[in-house]
Amino acid sequence: MPVRVPSLPLVLVVLLPACASPSSPATEGTGDDGDASTTADGGSTSAAATSEGSTTAEVPSDAPTFYEDVLPLVAQHCQGCHEAGGIGPFDLTDYETAAALAPSIAASTAARTMPPFVASNTGDCNTFANARWLADDEIDRLAQWADAGAPMGDPATPRPEPPTPAVLQGDDILTLSSPAGYEPVADDAGPADDYQCFLVDPQVVDAARYLVGFEVVPGNPAVTHHLIGFLVDPEATAPLGGTNGSLMQSLDDASPDQPGWDCFGAAGNGVLVEGTPVTWAPGGGAFNFPAGTGIRIDPGYVLVLQMHYNLAAGSGSDQTELRLSMADTVEREAVNALDDRFLATLFNGTGVSLPPGESATVWQWEAPLREWDSRISGWEQVEVLGLLPHMHSLGRRMQVTFRHAADDTEQCGLYVDRWDFNWQQAFMYEQPIVLAPGDHVEITCEWDTTSKQSATYPGLGTSDEMCLLGVYATEAK
Ligand code: HEC
Repeated sequence: MPVRVPSLPLVLVVLLPACASPSSPATEGTGDDGDASTTADGGSTSAAATSEGSTTAEVPSDAPTFYEDVLPLVAQHCQGCHEAGGIGPFDLTDYETAAALAPSIAASTAARTMPPFVASNTGDCNTFANARWLADDEIDRLAQWADAGAPMGDPATPRPEPPTPAVLQGDDILTLSSPAGYEPVADDAGPADDYQCFLVDPQVVDAARYLVGFEVVPGNPAVTHHLIGFLVDPEATAPLGGTNGSLMQSLDDASPDQPGWDCFGAAGNGVLVEGTPVTWAPGGGAFNFPAGTGIRIDPGYVLVLQMHYNLAAGSGSDQTELRLSMADTVEREAVNALDDRFLATLFNGTGVSLPPGESATVWQWEAPLREWDSRISGWEQVEVLGLLPHMHSLGRRMQVTFRHAADDTEQCGLYVDRWDFNWQQAFMYEQPIVLAPGDHVEITCEWDTTSKQSATYPGLGTSDEMCLLGVYATEAK
């Protein structure tokens, strides 16, 4: 008999809030804080003896210090964003700044909202090669440092270097960029957010080529929050009529004073996209697809770069560079395909909507892997390299489960337990998952509609919702 994974499909909806509510890590964190400070006080007899009426709490001698214990963590996990000129609102490599923020650093790391990473990387549902994730003892160290009053330590301690960024592999590198001089202005996506799409041409002319890696170099890191590169066939018919090419042209023409066009949900309202081969957030370095694999780009296809600018920590114009590592052939062609059966209800007349006023309203859909991309049907076994979940601002959680068709067992794929539209990204497995083309992928999205007075519909607009999953996969060797 096959071994059954204990969580059964029908209880999944019930399990979603229960199995890893985002408040539980935070609560545990607070508990740890309490323990840590009790131990620290208890351990220092002089502090205990003078605690009555004393205004200066003594620093326990074994408390972590900024230069010895905190700065190495900051260099490793925070500096990519929180340094002078970065997208993070303050420079955490500066002692005065970090000390003033110590309680907030302890709280946001305990809640795992910082460093930003919206999926669980505990190992209960896989671990990811591109995780921004602190170990529990690192979170404890930050809490102990904050509790001890953010001691400085010795400024002469050698400064830790941030990790060396990954280098783009390959010998055929095409450098493209967003238009010069684009000045972000907040649009209706948020008080400080601008989502703007630009078309770039990967110059694939006679025969298909393969994308094997990419690197993004923001021109103005203080405003560049993320970049998603959508693969678009300009000749394809858009769902609402016309071709993608003509639709993108009219979107661009609608704002003659600016290059590109406004876009929130994807590559612009109505544009049919085939994949998201490029996803980048600050501090990411170069991304090389697993050795021997690459994503096919057919002749004539273009990339639409969705730039998310955030004006909270800076302003001014930006021109971001996109470097694509291209190859004529690869050992194993990877597919990068998107599906959203929630969004599809718009076009198939089933008329789904989310009720207002619910703190956790869910919608579930499933499809066999081969329906993501017809190429998958021809593969004996599928190696899933990574996933890209996507919802809009009411999204809270997403559970992805793989169901093995042969024996009806299931396997956890991805658990997004603190969805934040601002921090969407692809999740690349540390250990790719091998499945059969007929195995099903089940997606459960959970939204919080308490802020809404009326129903929420699927769609690409800021006030609509999506329940999309992108799959990066290749044929297993
Ligand atoms: C990928 C970029 C990035 C990384 C890495 C990152 N931060 Fe942030 N951080 C931000 C941005 C941007 C904000 C502003 C609020 C937002 O957009 O979420 C922020 C906000 C904060 C805040 C303000 C309170 C809050 O939660 O909004 C604190 C504290 C913070 N970060 C601490 C840290 C610490 C500590 C680390 C490393 C352990 C870290 N951050 C890693 C980008 C980052």
